Amino acid sequence: MIPITRPDLPAFEDYVELLERVWETRMLSNFDHYAQRLERLAGDYLGVGTRVVSSGDVGLTCAIAALDVPRGAHALVPAFTFNSTINALLWNGLVPTFVDIDADTLNMDPDAAARAAERVRPGLVVATHCFGNPVDAQGLSRVAAAHGAPLLFDAAHGYGSKRAGVHVGGIGDVEVFSLSGTKPVTTAEGGLVTSRDPEFLERFTYTRAYGFQTDYNSRFIGLNGKMSELHAALGVLTLAHIEETLETRLSLVERYRRNLQSVRGLRFQAVRAEDRSTYKDLAVIFSTAGARNSVEAALTSAAIQTKRYFRPCHAMDSFRRFSTETLPVTETMYERILCLPLFCDLGHEDLDRICHIVTSNAAC
Ligand SMILES: Cc1ncc(COP(=O)(O)O)c(C=O)c1O
Repeated sequence: MIPITRPDLPAFEDYVELLERVWETRMLSNFDHYAQRLERLAGDYLGVGTRVVSSGDVGLTCAIAALDVPRGAHALVPAFTFNSTINALLWNGLVPTFVDIDADTLNMDPDAAARAAERVRPGLVVATHCFGNPVDAQGLSRVAAAHGAPLLFDAAHGYGSKRAGVHVGGIGDVEVFSLSGTKPVTTAEGGLVTSRDPEFLERFTYTRAYGFQTDYNSRFIGLNGKMSELHAALGVLTLAHIEETLETRLSLVERYRRNLQSVRGLRFQAVRAEDRSTYKDLAVIFSTAGARNSVEAALTSAAIQTKRYFRPCHAMDSFRRFSTETLPVTETMYERILCLPLFCDLGHEDLDRICHIVTSNAAC
């Protein structure tokens, strides 16, 4: 079976060597040596204030708590995202207003966001760097600024992505990364939260740690968002190699592009030449749902895993009640999209075989 993704792990001996310190000190958690080292490593790389957290999901929830948006306020958000983005709003008592995406970039469309903002006057604007493709930060910051709303980017897929040369993590007011096992660099489970605002970062250090610091006095509503030393030690090794990891991933994406360039009616998610995506997922879009379905079926019967990311949130059972407008682009993309296998040790022979199956089954 060819999986859709496979984590890129360091040499086992290198990990065990780091764990020796944990066994000696018996410090398993509480933002000790490796959590602090990972924060410095990621912060230096991203060039922005950075905090570790137990997952992207908890990072989003605690980040919104630290932004202190009044409960009941509306938040603009794409429906074409993972459900964590929406859950985090609801845990904080906010009301999601779903906004359509751009058909080329698959990111939230700033014009659609501006129209929705006029309707609901949002207290928060949230957008996802879909599959690592950096959002139009300028367009969205105009919308957010017009309503005095903070701009939060779900950067779950974007560790290593760049918008016009600037690392994702430093382009929103607050950004939240995931380091789970499906991401290009991983701590098994984990996340990072970034901001240029020291006051936000100070509040976030409370909300990610039950709401208190060493005095056990709860100052904010918090959660257990601690990253264990075992997870952080893994991240110290994997995040150190982000550039090599991305180089390999991007060369595989290039090979996919070359192999599939002549397939009629197939296109790739559009990433601007001056930007860089991690391609957390390699999405191809067909001109009809029939072509997508026939390629998907052929790949499945050849034991090649694919995914239909993202199932739109506005149509999910627990979020449907917030859906007030139709989202034609989101819905069409979900019918035509397919994510293909991409991971560092995907062999050229396997990649070429995948492309051959796509090419032979796309004419529907
Ligand atoms: C867009 C998006 N946001 C948030 C998350 C949640 O991250 P985590 O799995 O680290 O909790 C994911 C997970 O894949 C995601 O894809």
